Amino acid sequence: MNVDQWHFPRTDLSNHYFKSFELGVATRIVLYAPRKMGKTEFLIYDLMPVATEYNYLPIYINLWKNKEAPHEVIIESLTVTLDSITNKGIKLVKKTLKGIINKLKISTEFGAEFSTSLEPVVSSFEAIKAPSNQLTYISKLIRELIKQTENTPILLIIDEVQHLSISKKFDPLTYNLRTIIDENRHRLFAVLTGSSRTGLRKLFSDSKSPLYRFADMDNFPVMGSEFVEHIGGVFKKVTGKVLDIKKANRIFKKFDYNPDYFRTLVRIMALHEEIDINLAYKNVIDLIGNDNEYKALFEKLNDIDLELIKRILGNHAIYSQDYMEKMASKLGETITRGKIQSRIKRLEKMNVITKNLHGDYLVETPGFIEWIKKTQR
Ligand SMILES: Nc1ncnc2c1ncn2[C@@H]1O[C@H](COP(=O)(O)OP(=O)(O)O)[C@@H](O)[C@H]1O
Ligand SMILES: [Mg+2]
Repeated sequence: MNVDQWHFPRTDLSNHYFKSFELGVATRIVLYAPRKMGKTEFLIYDLMPVATEYNYLPIYINLWKNKEAPHEVIIESLTVTLDSITNKGIKLVKKTLKGIINKLKISTEFGAEFSTSLEPVVSSFEAIKAPSNQLTYISKLIRELIKQTENTPILLIIDEVQHLSISKKFDPLTYNLRTIIDENRHRLFAVLTGSSRTGLRKLFSDSKSPLYRFADMDNFPVMGSEFVEHIGGVFKKVTGKVLDIKKANRIFKKFDYNPDYFRTLVRIMALHEEIDINLAYKNVIDLIGNDNEYKALFEKLNDIDLELIKRILGNHAIYSQDYMEKMASKLGETITRGKIQSRIKRLEKMNVITKNLHGDYLVETPGFIEWIKKTQR
């Protein structure tokens, strides 16, 4: 069976980014969306192939491939691309890239088991500072690529870029990257994606960060009903059954437009004749809870946190006197500004909430709230 058929192509979106390169509107783009919203799939299935049509040479780098030593991932991706160009020459680059893209598709396929785990919050790792000879090597590889590709612009695609903000030990690497891209801005373009708004803000808005003002953060757009219709079409082709598009759209919205949850819903229905869309929906909600660490996360929250999350979801001010008094009488404890402040800081650290560009708080973890609503009273 053709697994690619489930992919909903987002060619227009790719074209949009290339047009802004061509028009000189932007040479660096930073895209934010929470986890499992389709960023990686877009980069590999849509952006890379379209890049070759525009005669750019795309190089995909996923920093999460080696969290301790992201410089090694960068070296590996650059080397793979450089080797294939050196062997075959830039003229054959489209063919070479097809191979690279296919390999990437397979690696994401294996990595893409249903999982919404809040890994970076929970897991710990030891950040390794890139040795200076490795930094020099990265510069050398890029210079060599620029030389070998003649007039072809290079598009660096860096996935999970917020990872660079996680440790000061990554600063020399980050600074090195910035310098190379700055120095070669006529030949090097960049699309960066991140799944933590707080992390991205630290990278691009903090004056102490090596990537300060490197690029403006933009939201990676969610998919709409065209996605649901596309999946419905494939579902029909594969199973012969009809997907209730109206219901499916409603559910997709309840999933906060998370394509991973939606694909899981459809997979359940495809595999089990007897399961209808309503039951499949319930199953997915259960899976969301079991599979990832929502339960563990939930247990770390107290009543004040839950009240605050609700308040943030409703877009209401969290420091109003009236609200604090109401919460105090509801919970039977004194609520002070300081108390709220410290809970908010903690929630932010846990990646449950984040501040947007206007300084308002948002709930960052998609699915978590739906899971709370469904499983907790
Ligand atoms: N364009 C798409 N068409 C079909 N399914 C998609 C698409 N984008 C994402 N998905 C589904 O959502 C899952 C998560 O997407 P992914 O790209 O890994 O998210 P992110 O990189 O934002 O964490 C994929 O494994 C796939 O099942
Ligand atoms: Mg990803």
